[in-house]
Amino acid sequence: MMRLTLKIWRQASTTAAGRLVDYTADRVSPDMSFLEMLDVVNEGLIKKGEDAIAFDSDCREGICGTCSLVVNGIAHGPDRGTTVCQLHMRRFKDGDTITVEPWRAKAFPVVKDLVVDRSAFDRIVTAGGYISINVGGAQDGNTIPIAKDVVETAMDSAACIGCGACVAACKNASAHLFMSAKISHLSLLPQGKIERHRRVMAMINQADAEGFGSCSNEGECEAVCPKEIPISNIARMTREYFRAMFVGEY
Ligand code: FES
Repeated sequence: MMRLTLKIWRQASTTAAGRLVDYTADRVSPDMSFLEMLDVVNEGLIKKGEDAIAFDSDCREGICGTCSLVVNGIAHGPDRGTTVCQLHMRRFKDGDTITVEPWRAKAFPVVKDLVVDRSAFDRIVTAGGYISINVGGAQDGNTIPIAKDVVETAMDSAACIGCGACVAACKNASAHLFMSAKISHLSLLPQGKIERHRRVMAMINQADAEGFGSCSNEGECEAVCPKEIPISNIARMTREYFRAMFVGEY
């Protein structure tokens, strides 16, 4: 069992001032997940009649993208290719001090404590992250031959879970890795090519309107992405953008 000191960001509302508050987590099992450890801390706070720490989670299996904590300054914590719900306390040592903060970006306002509003991502997807043609049933779809390497690259891009860690890690709070994963996934496949020009323009325009920054090729996004989406997607998105400008179909 471990005893840890936690410095956790507490902020009552979007407009309230926030600050780091110290908590002690006792009897932490190395087999607990990071979120289970926070659950135990919250049980203690509730027993004392104090306000529980607000944080997001859903699947706790690394597939939904809901969990979103900056742990010791790293989005999703110290393990590469891992969401914070899959981070385990065995990664830490007895006596450690752990700082826990929310994603920080203008386009992701804090709702409460460690919970941020990521609806800006939903609006980017609504702007263009879909195909609107009728592709028919599964059998029809399977009659369209697609090269295996194209399918695999598209599916690797589709692995993005939209958690927003890329934004949180970027000094420009850029959403380029997220957008480029969606754009790559769709524009590589024949069904997605039809709207490719309109899509890239609409998604980039929406990201600008939401207040996300631009990309300066730091690669911090790739380093923290729990699905290890490569920044080669951003290069593909840039090519799609210039192609759309050249073709003028948007
Ligand atoms: S809670 Fe679903 S990915 Fe972490």
